[in-house]
Amino acid sequence: MNILHDKLKRDLIHRGFSRRSFGRIAAMITAGATLPFYNEPALAQLSKIDAPPDAVLLNANENPLGPCREAREAAARMIEHGGRYRYSEGDRVQQLLSEQEGVRRDYLRVYAGSSAPLHQAVLAFTSPNRPFVMADPGYESGAGAAAFIGAETIRVPLMKDNGYAHDVKAMAAASPIAGLIYICNPNNPTGTLTSKSDIEWLVANKPAGSVVMIDEAYTHIAGAPFHTDMVAADKDVIILRTFSKIYGMAGRCHCASGPAPEVGRVQRRHDADHGHGRRQCESGGEVRDSRAAQVYRRRA
Ligand SMILES: Cc1ncc(COP(=O)(O)O)c(C=O)c1O
Repeated sequence: MNILHDKLKRDLIHRGFSRRSFGRIAAMITAGATLPFYNEPALAQLSKIDAPPDAVLLNANENPLGPCREAREAAARMIEHGGRYRYSEGDRVQQLLSEQEGVRRDYLRVYAGSSAPLHQAVLAFTSPNRPFVMADPGYESGAGAAAFIGAETIRVPLMKDNGYAHDVKAMAAASPIAGLIYICNPNNPTGTLTSKSDIEWLVANKPAGSVVMIDEAYTHIAGAPFHTDMVAADKDVIILRTFSKIYGMAGRCHCASGPAPEVGRVQRRHDADHGHGRRQCESGGEVRDSRAAQVYRRRA
């Protein structure tokens, strides 16, 4: 299969990629979630040991409680339909999340893990000419993806005098041609929070043409505010959410929501060009987002 067709190749050259990088880009498109970009699976493998069954595992931020009872029951009910693709289940999840989040259905995508959209957003919005901006220390997965395709990563230290929040002013000033500015809130690995007003300031004052990606993998756990309202308000923002953490469904059923019209146009083009659409969701449409969160809050 010709993953990089001529139009896409021309687009990549126009964005500053060389033909030598096409092989890597094709690899990223086809294996976006699985390449070893220092994401949790890769880090977990580095520290893979034959742990005793009662060991306390901290290496991959997994939820030791596993999926809640309702999710396990829904997953079990799906097994008998395992011979069918059942794409419509993905449509149901997309519809449900769109209602819960108050964002347009076509702004919302369901993926098999938030690592894939994270890496693919790096591919869509950064290039050898447009750097990736992130916090230091921060979640390294996006920087790994940027290095893989030859994009520069600019690391902006967290503010030690301000609760180790992201320094949004320094991030906005880091490069006038930034492609993607990545905020992880709460931040991995520090667990520190950046205020909603600071993130709103960043979105209002970022360089023209750059996109802000807010990774909300741990936001439920912190009880911090979400930022989906900025997607609904058509800002140049991508939000990543995952079922891996609070919902205890590591590496399975996840969603990314976004994006604003211009972001959407690029991301939709990216999805279409790269053959990434909505994927079937293993747990089906039966796990209600807020319900699962309530169950975990009760159990915690
Ligand atoms: C901050 C952050 N973002 C994204 C991910 C990717 O998680 P997943 O691909 O399981 O959705 C992780 C995984 O630990 C993470 O810590």
